[in-house]
Amino acid sequence: MKIHYFASEAWEEAYVRTKMGGDEIAFHKGPLSTFPDLEDESAETLCIFINSSIGEAELSRFPSLKLIATRSTGFDHIDLAAAKAHGVTVVTVPFYGENTVAEFAFALLLSLSRRISEAEASVKAGGFSPVGFRGFDLAGKTIGVIGTGHIGAHAIRMAQGFDMKVIGFDAYPNAELAQTLNFAYASLEELLTAADIVTLHVPYNAHTHHLINKENIRAFKKGSYLINTSRGAVVETEALVEALKVGTLAGAGLDVLEEEGDMADETLLLVQSHPNENALKIALANHYIIEHPRVIVTPHTAFNTTEAITRILDASIENIRHFSEGSPTNVVS
Ligand code: NAI
Repeated sequence: MKIHYFASEAWEEAYVRTKMGGDEIAFHKGPLSTFPDLEDESAETLCIFINSSIGEAELSRFPSLKLIATRSTGFDHIDLAAAKAHGVTVVTVPFYGENTVAEFAFALLLSLSRRISEAEASVKAGGFSPVGFRGFDLAGKTIGVIGTGHIGAHAIRMAQGFDMKVIGFDAYPNAELAQTLNFAYASLEELLTAADIVTLHVPYNAHTHHLINKENIRAFKKGSYLINTSRGAVVETEALVEALKVGTLAGAGLDVLEEEGDMADETLLLVQSHPNENALKIALANHYIIEHPRVIVTPHTAFNTTEAITRILDASIENIRHFSEGSPTNVVS
């Protein structure tokens, strides 16, 4: 198989080449968008990360393409309908980092609850006083877990380790999980009303687009916290800004932002001949969010541990191998 591999880091090349001896692999450092002139009539596989968006325009540059292997759980960066129309199979890595991402959600939560970023900054600035950094206990608080799949279930276990009360919401409640992990499901509205902390673990799709929005954000308990390690557009940015302004939300821990792809180089938004008004608006709102003293924003790095990355690469290599052997695994479309 001829593969184009868009690497995030240089070391991946040696690792992947060792494990995929027989294949013809062209490595590129960076996402597909940084190679706008790349076309290949004979390429059969693209191996990408979430920073490579694939739609009709990209697919037409690789007319023999048979497989897109994304090194991620989410696949909202791929136009599945367009891939299907081109006869291209899309495979993903469904279970590489459920503990990894849940651990990160708690890292964000603990940073907020114990004001760790602010306290650390004060020490770096030469101070050494706890005044101004009083936080709150997690024990006894109620956490609402939206999406009780692989990552959500780990978050529930962790919450229980902290002696928190757990409420779950899921489009497909898992009664067995609720019994095993001893938590109750509720409606979305009930969860938002009761939780001191809400953590999001749903995939991004048409149903979860703005799952938290201007209407239901009013249901959040006054002074609660939102943790988002799922996808930025699960939350309507305008609603988040408003909730932070009026104090409905006391703070937020966000590993993902709506339109986060624009954050890497915002000048591109400005030089476009027809600037996208909505994207500009969201970029502006993202700055308000990033500058907010009780918001912690990280650059979509919840997956990013040595162990998880190794699992992702191994699983992606297996996905490609299984596809070439005629028995594809982890197919999403
Ligand atoms: P999963 O598929 O195991 O669980 C997702 C859960 O959400 C399922 O229980 C599903 O029934 C539920 N769900 C789906 N649609 C829903 C809706 N409309 N309303 C309520 N519940 C709904 O997925 P997993 O492995 O737990 O990952 C969740 C998401 O986390 C991924 O799709 C990805 O977007 C994000 N993620 C983020 C990472 C990061 O680095 N920030 C890394 C890995 C995943």
